Amino acid sequence: MQQDKIPVVVLISGRGSNLQAIIDNSQNDQLDIDIKAVISNRPDVVGLERARAAGIPAITIDHTMFCDRTAFEQALRECIDQYQPQLVILAGFMRILGADFVNHYHGRMLNIHPSLLPKYPGLNTHQRAIDNHDSEHGASIHFVTTELDGGPAVLQVRVPVLDNDTAETLAARVLEQEHHLYCQAIQWFAEQRLSMKDSKVIFDQKELQQPRIARSQ
Ligand code: GRF
Repeated sequence: MQQDKIPVVVLISGRGSNLQAIIDNSQNDQLDIDIKAVISNRPDVVGLERARAAGIPAITIDHTMFCDRTAFEQALRECIDQYQPQLVILAGFMRILGADFVNHYHGRMLNIHPSLLPKYPGLNTHQRAIDNHDSEHGASIHFVTTELDGGPAVLQVRVPVLDNDTAETLAARVLEQEHHLYCQAIQWFAEQRLSMKDSKVIFDQKELQQPRIARSQ
């Protein structure tokens, strides 16, 4: 570890395998972060158990308990801000976020998306890559902006699509890469090598014209 750990909050909706990779790497001192809380919009998901097992506050803010999106996001924001995070990490968080919320975390909220953005924003990315006979697929880390899966991409990994791939087999290979990818981008942010300015990614003081490409592991 090279410097103080930055406080982060992780938002999830389910399984939390990316969360687990982030927890493991922070516990092994591979990530200079302090995970202050994990918040899920769905109760009783595996990701919350993973947080609890690591001794991290595991909180549910169930979106179905609010009258509208604004009320849900207000509660979510109040909860997150108690922890004063320098970075908010969306790790399989499956709610679309409104402009006020997104702007509040401008330049300090990252998302992982299972495609080579700008290809395939939204859902069913693996099946869409197969249906389009893509020879490669992958995952992207991007800053969150008001455009769904449209914020500037920081880092991508490419995964070949095999002839006999199903959405499930392809998703599994991409997911394995996601875990490394997200930790890499988070560490860059923690080391202050990464920021967003005028909707562009700044990496090591220079504007990135293209996302960085990670070596597949
Ligand atoms: C991942 O594929 C991620 O890219 C997408 O949602 C999935 C979350 O998986 N945004 P997990 O909950 O981290 O296991």
